[in-house]
Amino acid sequence: MARTPLIAGNWKMNENHIEATGLVQKLSWALIDGQYEPEKSEAAVIVPFTDIRSVQTLIEGDKINIAFGAQDVSKYDKGAYTGEVSAPMLAKLNCKYVVVGHSERREYHGESDELINAKAKKVIEYGMTPIICVGEVLAVRKEGRQIEHVLAQTKGVLAGLTPEQVSSLVIAYEPVWAIGTGEVATPADAQEVCGAIREYVKGEFGEEAAEGVRIQYGGSVKSSNVVEIMAEPDVDGALVGGASLDAEEFARIVLFYKA
Ligand code: 13P
Repeated sequence: MARTPLIAGNWKMNENHIEATGLVQKLSWALIDGQYEPEKSEAAVIVPFTDIRSVQTLIEGDKINIAFGAQDVSKYDKGAYTGEVSAPMLAKLNCKYVVVGHSERREYHGESDELINAKAKKVIEYGMTPIICVGEVLAVRKEGRQIEHVLAQTKGVLAGLTPEQVSSLVIAYEPVWAIGTGEVATPADAQEVCGAIREYVKGEFGEEAAEGVRIQYGGSVKSSNVVEIMAEPDVDGALVGGASLDAEEFARIVLFYKA
């Protein structure tokens, strides 16, 4: 079964809702110029909550072939949780993807695998696709314990999901030492961990889940390194931070298959 690669731009806390529409419009033009074929590489933008409605209106109104989604979600449906945004709210805005457990949320907001697992379940319950992030910090990599560490996270974040649910979700392997540092993991580093994640999924959830689940690499992905990373058999896409804020550059990354 062929997996369509997913190239998702995580804008993080950048672009207000007016800037967001400009960036999506430019991205759309750049993809059209590049004769983008969505069945070969799916493009998505993962935007701040305040941008979602504007991005949705533009994308749906102009029938632009770019998926969109959110960067986080509450584990609750509704209620007295000041500042939180729920999965049903995001589903109502037609979000396709929701990132959960990004390393920045793990680090700055103390998110645990257990919480991330609960959030992923909410995203699935409301018909959206979670992009669940895992990845080791530099100290763990230096000790050579990256596989053990990432598989423990994977176990925690996938707990209680069915094989069918696992087969359609996205796992993003983002080594924390490669995020925003310009320090990109080698294609072999990315493959080593992405391959180990797929093996784990196979052992725990079966062959079909392992064949279906898309595993992205994230960390300093650019148009200059995406082709070699995407050539690895267990890398099914990229979660792109900084480079996704430049429409032309992000379009080049989405169009990696033409290189
Ligand atoms: P950079 O591409 O800026 O390294 O960010 C990666 C990332 O964290 C995407 O979620």
